[in-house]
Amino acid sequence: MAQQKGEWFETWFDTRYYHILYQNRDFSEAERFINNLLDDLDLSKSANCLDLACGKGRHSVFINKKGFKVTGVDLSQNSISEAKPFENDSLSFDTHDMREVYKENTFDVVFNLFTSFGYFDDYEDNAKVLNSVHKMLVADGLLVIDFMNADFVLDNLVKKEVKTLDNIDFRITKSYDGRHIFKDINFSDEGKEYHFQEKVQAIKKDEFEMLLKESGFEIEKIYGDFSLSPFSKEKSDRLIIIAKKK
Ligand SMILES: C[S@@+](CC[C@H](N)C(=O)[O-])C[C@H]1O[C@@H](n2cnc3c(N)ncnc32)[C@H](O)[C@@H]1O
Repeated sequence: MAQQKGEWFETWFDTRYYHILYQNRDFSEAERFINNLLDDLDLSKSANCLDLACGKGRHSVFINKKGFKVTGVDLSQNSISEAKPFENDSLSFDTHDMREVYKENTFDVVFNLFTSFGYFDDYEDNAKVLNSVHKMLVADGLLVIDFMNADFVLDNLVKKEVKTLDNIDFRITKSYDGRHIFKDINFSDEGKEYHFQEKVQAIKKDEFEMLLKESGFEIEKIYGDFSLSPFSKEKSDRLIIIAKKK
């Protein structure tokens, strides 16, 4: 059986199977969300944006189409290679680890979208990411985090399911150890068995509020879905936080 080598987030996101499984999370979903966000943020036309953990760049490409300068960075070399063909004078992509500073005092907005946080075993790394974001933002710059609403996800955890995509049966089990939500993904392709695991910290709203405060951010707004409805701990599927660098 093919297993993950190294940290789960270094390998799983770099496989083509991740993109097959999440193919419904596509450019049109990203466009709807970004339209709502940009209306809400009301940025100046000269705003310089960073899409932190951009994947194949679905949000970066659309933010750029709306007229903003965008840099998308991600740890996955394969994803960045797929994003590169979209580059232009005001859109670029690069491989980068979000725990490190990419460019100091440069960005007006940093986007961290679609649960691209809470991956690391060392909890200090959460602060490391936020401190790096703080350094990369200009004064009064904004951070937008779109994370799962952990309370809602835990209340509605589908323990076992099979998803068939591109003729592959992904057998998925989910579990919780009191801190992390695990998603075990088993499947076979071309006669070979695979197992991957996602492991994301179930960070709840209160903890995000504390983490952000400790890293020098002030929370401006909190929303509960891609339409930017008000956040409800019980009903919202997303936790979308807009915070300002103090
Ligand atoms: C759930 S995906 C979301 C991707 C993208 N934001 C989207 O919505 O399509 C999470 C992304 O985080 C990236 N990632 C994981 N660990 C990272 C790290 N340490 N630094 C930068 N990116 C990382 C993965 O490669 C993956 O592309």
